Amino acid sequence: MIAKDYFLLLHPMIAVFFVFPLIGIVVNFAWSTRQRRLQTASGNKSKIPPVVGQEHVHLGRWLTGAVVGITLLGLAFSIFAKMLEKQVISQEPLRFVFVVFMCIATVASLYFLYQAKTPIWRGIFATLTGMGLILLGCQPEVYRRGNEWFISHYYYGITAAMLMIFSLAIVQDIYKDRQNRWRTVHIILNCVALLLFIGQGMTGTRDLLEIPLSWQEQYVNKLYELQCDIKPCIIQGTPQPK
Ligand code: HEM
Ligand code: HEM
Repeated sequence: MIAKDYFLLLHPMIAVFFVFPLIGIVVNFAWSTRQRRLQTASGNKSKIPPVVGQEHVHLGRWLTGAVVGITLLGLAFSIFAKMLEKQVISQEPLRFVFVVFMCIATVASLYFLYQAKTPIWRGIFATLTGMGLILLGCQPEVYRRGNEWFISHYYYGITAAMLMIFSLAIVQDIYKDRQNRWRTVHIILNCVALLLFIGQGMTGTRDLLEIPLSWQEQYVNKLYELQCDIKPCIIQGTPQPK
C-alpha cells in the first residue's frame, strides 16, 4: 500500500472506531431520556437517573463535530487526491485556493456555532457550516452518484451532517419550548438521521469495495475495459465512455 491508500482508509477507519460507537451511545442516552421523561410525566417515579438528558446533549455535541469532521475528511480526500492527480493546482489555482479556504471557513463556522448564544448567531453559523459542506460537495472531483442519488454515500452523508448541525443549533429551543414542539421536531429528524447513518454504513462499505487500492487499479481497469458493455460504464465510481 502507498500513502494514497492509507489516506483513503483514514475516513472509513475514523467512522468505524469513533463515529459509529458515538452514535450508539448518543442513541442509548436518547432512549433513556425519553423513557424517563414519559415515566415522570405520567406521575411515576423513574429509576433512570436524571443525568441521562445532560449526557445525551454532551455527547450529541461531540457527535455533531464528529459527523461534520468526517464529512469534511471524505470530501477533502476526494477533492485533493484527484486535484493532485490531474494537476489542477497549476491549471486552476484559484479553485484550489477556494477549496482550501472553504475547508478552513467550514471548521471556523462550526467552532463559532458551538460558541453562539443568541438564536440569530446560531442560525447564521449553522447556515454557514452547512453551506461550506455543500460548496465543497459541488466540486467536480466529488463523486455524488447523482443518477442513483437514493443510494448515494454523498447525499446520505451531507443530509445526515445537516441534521446534526440543525440539532446543535436548536439545543436551547428544545429546552425553552414548554409545548415540546422543538423536541418532537428533533426526534422525528434524528430518527431520519439514524436511518441515514445505517445507510452510510452500507453505502460506505460498498464504495470501499468499489475503489481499488493503487496496486489493484490497473487490473480492475483492464477487467472493466474487457467486460463493460453498458454505456456509460462505471469505472471506480467515475462514469467512463466505452
Ligand atoms: C442520532 C442522533 C440523535 C437521536 C436519535 C436523538 C434523539 C433524541 C431523543 C429521542 C430525545 C428525547 C426526547 C424526549 O424527551 O422525548 C432527545 C433529546 C434531546 N436531544 Fe437528541 N438525538 C440525537 C442527537 C442529538 C444531537 C446531535 C443533539 C445536539 C447537539 C441533541 C440534543 C438533544 C437535546 C438538547 C435533547 C433534550 C434533552 C433533555 O430533555 O434533557 N440530540 N434526542
Ligand atoms: C457517519 C458516517 C459517514 C459519513 C457522514 C460519511 C460521509 C462521506 C462523504 C461526504 C464522502 C465524500 C463523498 C463521496 O466521495 O462519496 C465520503 C466518502 C467516502 N466514504 Fe464515507 N461517510 C461515513 C461513513 C463511512 C463508512 C462507515 C465507510 C466505509 C466503511 C465510508 C467510506 C467512504 C469511502 C470509501 C469514500 C470515498 C472516498 C473517495 O471518493 O475517494 N464512509 N464519506
